[in-house]
Amino acid sequence: MGAWTEGRRDDPLPCREVDRGLFEITTRDGRGRIGRLHTEHGILETPALLPVINPNIRTIEPREMWDRYGIGALITNSYIIWKHEGLKETAITEGVHKLLDYPGVVMTDSGTFQAYIYGDVEVGVEEIVEFQRSIGVDIATMLDVFSRPDMTEGQVAKCVQETIERAPASIAASGTTMLNGPIQGGIFKHLRTESAQGMGEFGFAIHPIGGIVPVMERHLYKDYAKIMLSSLPYLPPNRPVHMFGCGHPMLFPMSIALGADLFDSAAYALFARDGRLLTPWGTQKIESLVEWPERMPCVVACTPADVRALGMKEKTALLARYNLEVTLSELDRCKQAIRDGTIWRLAERRSHQHPALREAFLWLSTSPHNKKLNLQFLEELVLDDRDAARDIDQNAGQWEHAWNWIVESQESPRKGGEPWGGEDTQVRPHINAAKKALKEHWKPHNKEGKGADEVLIAYGSSGPWRERLSDLMARLEHHCPGLEVMIQTPIGLLPYSLEDLNPFTHIDGPQWLWRRRPNPAVLREELGHYGLGERRIILVDLLGDGIQSRAFNALHQAGVVDGITDTDASAQPLEKEQRDEAKLRLQRRHVADKMVLLLNLKHDLVQTMLTDSTFVVNRLGRVKNAMLSNGTHIVSPRLTDGGLSLTTGGALEIHALREIPIPNGFEKGGGGSHLSKGPAWVVVNDDAEPFVRQGRNVFHGFILACDSWVSPGDTCLLVNQKGELIGHGISQCTPADMQHFQKGVAVKTRGGMAQ
Ligand code: GUN
Repeated sequence: MGAWTEGRRDDPLPCREVDRGLFEITTRDGRGRIGRLHTEHGILETPALLPVINPNIRTIEPREMWDRYGIGALITNSYIIWKHEGLKETAITEGVHKLLDYPGVVMTDSGTFQAYIYGDVEVGVEEIVEFQRSIGVDIATMLDVFSRPDMTEGQVAKCVQETIERAPASIAASGTTMLNGPIQGGIFKHLRTESAQGMGEFGFAIHPIGGIVPVMERHLYKDYAKIMLSSLPYLPPNRPVHMFGCGHPMLFPMSIALGADLFDSAAYALFARDGRLLTPWGTQKIESLVEWPERMPCVVACTPADVRALGMKEKTALLARYNLEVTLSELDRCKQAIRDGTIWRLAERRSHQHPALREAFLWLSTSPHNKKLNLQFLEELVLDDRDAARDIDQNAGQWEHAWNWIVESQESPRKGGEPWGGEDTQVRPHINAAKKALKEHWKPHNKEGKGADEVLIAYGSSGPWRERLSDLMARLEHHCPGLEVMIQTPIGLLPYSLEDLNPFTHIDGPQWLWRRRPNPAVLREELGHYGLGERRIILVDLLGDGIQSRAFNALHQAGVVDGITDTDASAQPLEKEQRDEAKLRLQRRHVADKMVLLLNLKHDLVQTMLTDSTFVVNRLGRVKNAMLSNGTHIVSPRLTDGGLSLTTGGALEIHALREIPIPNGFEKGGGGSHLSKGPAWVVVNDDAEPFVRQGRNVFHGFILACDSWVSPGDTCLLVNQKGELIGHGISQCTPADMQHFQKGVAVKTRGGMAQ
């Protein structure tokens, strides 16, 4: 295949002058994010792969990267250009874009990597940044000090310190050119954190995570994950994170799920040179292949044998294209997964492709957050891996913090079921977030009356349950009002009042998953979280006809109900009035529990608010709208995903209940101090107020403060500086995002309070 001559793609349009250097998020999935980086040579969509171009050996022409592959940015090395007389002169006189014949975003590296390979470089700290600026690069890199994984802690600390000390001069030399501020720290987590905090103080545009090439070369993926988790939570979130030297597609899903935005790949060309093919599941040698691992566009007309027969140059060029195509397509898969809310699941699936990746993933998803698992893990590890055991033991706090950083950014998926993936399912961050929220917010009603010492646990079948259970529930409500009813799901107990809540209701898995026999010890422990640990457990199998009889027989045998001895309990229907009364109470509880869970409201307050409330129900008896006794429509349960939509009337009512002061700044909440304080408030400045009142979205840059518990996907109240309600909406981000981002939508407004 020769030089690229087919169709040309138009040159990119520069971003708006005021946006230059800004990064915005357009879609997020936990820490995974799709963003836009605004530059003079176009708006780069992230996650993005920047192919490495060696200006001396151009395996694939940059022009072809732009025209054929739609690659929006590439990276080359300014030190190589600086050292080479001819290249240097052209770059200075015509600019780096001309030198490369590439119209998109050009990032350059500084020579640090050469210093790592060859021991030293001859160029000065300011000199190399000034040079990059002078040749018109879009994103330059300062001369950081590479920290190798085999260095001692003292040596690495020096690299971190020296890099931070070089930052002010580098920033000054960069002028208005965007500058990379790499994070060093080897495999020492506290040094990574120090580096992130120190470098984050300066005005860098992007933070590459440096010093990871040898970590990846040795397949130390667990260390790679630890490096990410000890750096990213400490960086300003409005700056893209670049994984320096990471170009193997196998690492993309996990990296992106943990917050990486940029990658660069020399691998596509280097691997091609020795006949190796990149795939999302590892590397394969062309020598042993009969079929292509993935049939990419550049090889549709040939077999591996045909390619083996080519001359060296042609073979390398074709394999480089193959590697690039595979890499880009895995990146597309990751981007689609973010849009679908499934990036963690993609990382989970990919983790099975390589033992070291699996180890990293298991460490990530089990060890940092779950104390019980942690201890078990620790005991097992003490036998054969003392370092790992010590790490968990000594750093449990830091890993827990990092894990919370992941969990707090999750929102409940609004569409699709939750495919069961074995034990990995339990530790998916959004499942973790949903379980945590339920445990923190839901409370039994502790009503007096029959059943107050028992809890009925229905098990054995997947949902939806309401059609099968609604008559039984009305009868139970009437006959034993003190009884709590919960459903056993594969990810934990779900109170019946929240029976349509995602993701509990929609676990897609084999029948046996639901047919698992309830384990009394596990149930007891779980009930303990809700203060129900002392209650007697009554089990009822959901499968098969006659659920009412089974339930009442079990209750009868337990001595809870004595009036109903009939084996066919449904033969004793309730009077219409009794049934309507019981159903109304159940509807009220359904709405109350949703408001407590999803609007962070106090249990008692909601009870009072809903006194004499009424409901509009659909044909199937499901609540569509909830109205206060004065007729104000306050919320609508969403029938599709079990969520709750707040109305403008509801926002006004809830706003008036606030007992704490207006937020001041962007503090992060600690522990459970935010519990039951209502939906988070977001304070919007005077410029934005009229627009929000008209129902327009809240943009970053117009937010003065927010409550610490605001989280993506959550309902929040929009207020002005006086604390007056001006609207309500759905937050797209965390408090740190609200504090730092300057561009993009922060809150999708659902209703504005016209003046
Ligand atoms: N390329 C790969 N790793 C690094 C690094 O740590 N720093 C710089 N500047 N470039 C790199």
